[in-house]
Amino acid sequence: MNNSPIQTPELIHSPKEIRAKVVAAQKSGLTVGFVPTMGALHEGHLSLAGRAAAECDVTVVSIFVNPTQFGPSEDFSKYPRTLDSDIELLSHYHPVWVFAPEAADMYPPGMSTVVSPPRVSSPLEGVSRPTHFAGVATVVLKLLNMVPADIAYFGQKDYQQACVIRQMVIDLDVATRIAVCPIVRDDDGLAMSSRNRYLTPAERTAALSISRSLRVATERLEAGDRDAESIAAGMRAEMHAAGIREIDYAILANPQTLETLQTATDTVVILIAARVGGTRLIDNCVVSLSPTE
Ligand code: PAF
Repeated sequence: MNNSPIQTPELIHSPKEIRAKVVAAQKSGLTVGFVPTMGALHEGHLSLAGRAAAECDVTVVSIFVNPTQFGPSEDFSKYPRTLDSDIELLSHYHPVWVFAPEAADMYPPGMSTVVSPPRVSSPLEGVSRPTHFAGVATVVLKLLNMVPADIAYFGQKDYQQACVIRQMVIDLDVATRIAVCPIVRDDDGLAMSSRNRYLTPAERTAALSISRSLRVATERLEAGDRDAESIAAGMRAEMHAAGIREIDYAILANPQTLETLQTATDTVVILIAARVGGTRLIDNCVVSLSPTE
């Protein structure tokens, strides 16, 4: 967090206006950092804003609950919308411009172009949420055109999303550099998420088995176990024992392609998606292994 006094961020709704401000700032020699969000900000988002504020002269935080990345039975209508408190939380960093576009400006009548996301979007979330990454890729590309920042900051918590965006900006020659920042966890280990507020106390206790499973899996890898299938089975057993019945995936994967591994190699990403009560949670952890021989 920036130590300077509290200053209410400037709120901009118009895509044309934010783009003009960003371009003018860059022309005057300033660097611009960009944190795209769907609002309901928590410490995870604030760590991204803090990193942008530390590395760039101006920080833009977008707040837009993007309808196209939600499936028909997902939580779009009940997704928390807390613009006033989000703006207040951002008043500790400045200069910050909050860009909160209207849905009609993001998706005007007649718009029919959709970004086909890269191959890394296919497994995992791509199976559980088949239209999700087309929605994410389309909105992120639009946001990067509206806010042509020097660096855009994303959280590692959405590991596959970060892979998709990194590959998309390479494939489509977007000039903005993508920075991926570490997961922020509550003291009990739960990865911060805007959806955690849906959890009842009992569900939250059950949800802790997700980060616990990641820790146990990491310990097994660090102790020399390379049997990825057995480690994944251990994670599922840990979550089942805590009362989680719906596990979309709990796997060890190649950190670039996200292909499931049978045997752990030098660097692996461990990824989990599970439903706790009515809330779908994701978490992950990257483990770099030193050679066993
Ligand atoms: O990670 C999110 O909050 C969203 O997927 C994003 C990147 C803001 C696109 O709507």
